[in-house]
Amino acid sequence: MVNGQIFPFEHSVTKERREQLLRQKAVAVWFTGLSGSGKSTIAGMLEKKLYEKGYKTILLDGDNIRHGLNSDLGFTDSDRVENIRRVAEVTGLFLNAGLIVITAFISPFRSGREMARKIAGPGRFFEIFLDTPPEVCESRDTKGLYKKAQSGEIKHFTGISSPYENPLQPELRVNTAEVKPDAILESVFQRIELSIRFT
Ligand code: ADX
Repeated sequence: MVNGQIFPFEHSVTKERREQLLRQKAVAVWFTGLSGSGKSTIAGMLEKKLYEKGYKTILLDGDNIRHGLNSDLGFTDSDRVENIRRVAEVTGLFLNAGLIVITAFISPFRSGREMARKIAGPGRFFEIFLDTPPEVCESRDTKGLYKKAQSGEIKHFTGISSPYENPLQPELRVNTAEVKPDAILESVFQRIELSIRFT
């Protein structure tokens, strides 16, 4: 709960000053899509490309964050809301540090993604929708989760027993079943390139 007795302190080293030091603009590249849509793969490729170009990045990935910071959360609607709320706040902190933040979470609810967009601020949030058909994600089933969800072994599974709300106006939408990973990476990079460059 917000405490009426606590007031934010304005420190003198600002995000803008850190950006100047790092010679880059801090933006969030927010991948969203079903399990198996390719979020972790493309996010990892993007981070590698940015690293090789000298950009300072941080990658937050659902499968990893849920082992640490969010290990107390499951997959009910309210746990997913809390998962994304924390990730959005952490994204904001890393943006303040001047970093390029790449996130890979299903983030199935529009409200959660909008919260992250608001925290990042205008021009600093790139919602990348990996719009991969459910049947393609299902056929990939790299972790065997779709099979378990269909048999009822896993409950609240996105796309089967839990909803996914498509982004209405993402900065970029790609169908990973139709476009090769290298080409997706190129589109994402082109989409953000001017916004991360320090001028
Ligand atoms: S989110 O909905 O809260 O954004 P998040 O991206 O953190 O989800 O975690 C999704 C990952 O958890 C999937 O990639 C998958 O490996 C695993 N997982 C386990 N159970 C589920 C489930 N019921 N629904 C979706 N993903 C699940």
